[in-house]
Amino acid sequence: MTKTLLLLSGDGIGPEVTAQSERIVAALDAGIVTSTARFGGAGIDADGVPLTDAVLAEAKAADAVLMGAVGGPQWSGQPYDKRPEAGLLALRAGMNVYANLRPARCFASLADASSLKRELVEGLDILFVRELTGGVYFGNPRGIEDLGGGERRGVNTHSYTSGEIRRVARVAFELAAGRSGRVCSAEKSNVMEAGLLWREEVQALRDAEYPHVELSHMLADNTAMQLVKYPKQFDIILTDNLFGDILSDEAAMLTGSLGLLPSAAIGEAGTPGLYEPIHGSAPDIAGQGVANPCASILSLAMALRYSLGRPDLATRVEAAVEAALDAGARTRDLGGTLGTADMGDAILARL
Ligand code: NAD
Ligand code: IPM
Ligand code: MN
Repeated sequence: MTKTLLLLSGDGIGPEVTAQSERIVAALDAGIVTSTARFGGAGIDADGVPLTDAVLAEAKAADAVLMGAVGGPQWSGQPYDKRPEAGLLALRAGMNVYANLRPARCFASLADASSLKRELVEGLDILFVRELTGGVYFGNPRGIEDLGGGERRGVNTHSYTSGEIRRVARVAFELAAGRSGRVCSAEKSNVMEAGLLWREEVQALRDAEYPHVELSHMLADNTAMQLVKYPKQFDIILTDNLFGDILSDEAAMLTGSLGLLPSAAIGEAGTPGLYEPIHGSAPDIAGQGVANPCASILSLAMALRYSLGRPDLATRVEAAVEAALDAGARTRDLGGTLGTADMGDAILARL
């Protein structure tokens, strides 16, 4: 059956890395029909907004969406609702993809590329389950208030409902069954009510429906420290939107580079998933053709697995990436000299 994949390549290195994923889709020749649309800063420049209603409708009608990256200095002076990043938040909320899976695996041939010692990261395989459509990114009230006399107040609200916590926790518990059965939930229940509710709801769901899951709780600051002290203690880390953002970038360096980590954002069964590298638009290297396309290609693999009904092809794409790395293919972020398209070539050759 034909499946549809919408490509939203976005800004900066987004189009450069997404182009390599597009080559992989074509080479797989699996009847996946791709389309493209403007998004992010590219959308602002052409349409005045980062995400039009038409593009959101297209995203919701597709089987899967592969996003590149958004943002850049040219749009950073805009009010928040006119920024590329606001388009990404609106896309996530509009697609209702509340569970963000961010795997951090250390490929055997890259154990020396990590900033940690080889023995700490060899064989590392952590899965972050990050809540993606709630928390301080979306809470109200928000804004900048003028207090008079030159004083201003910036306001954001960290809030979660029990329903929002339970639905993402359920995703983590379901995934635990296919892994080691261990879930560590990270929050700040010691200082924030939303964190305390998080801990209570996660524990209650585990006790009521997932008694076989080995659940632990850890304060998020300690989690950040433990991730660099002894990362292999973790299997699944379940956490909120903001902590998940920060901890997954931290974990990227355990695996060698931010340019390697993919993600899948999923919602209710039968609805399309949103797939994206965890990295951003990398303005410092954009336009040079040197970005690592692995995170995008591995995100495509996650789309094949979770939304496009082709877990067999997902495994094939992941194996090709690993084989290219095993053969020594390295972009600059991994200490090599290959350009983005050369890395694409190396992966395509092993597909
Ligand atoms: P970034 O992730 O864009 O870059 C951080 C560092 O990692 C940079 O040195 C960059 O060169 C490097 N890097 C990132 N991806 C790489 C890749 N594939 N290959 C090689 N090196 C790579 O983060 P930033 O610089 O803090 O943010 C830049 C812009 O991107 C901001 O506007 C931010 O809002 C946006 N952003 C977007 C997303 C997204 O679209 N999902 C994610 C993060 C940041
Ligand atoms: C990410 C990014 C986004 C986030 C931004 C660009 C909205 O950092 O996907 O990790 O904070 O979620
Ligand atoms: Mn991030």
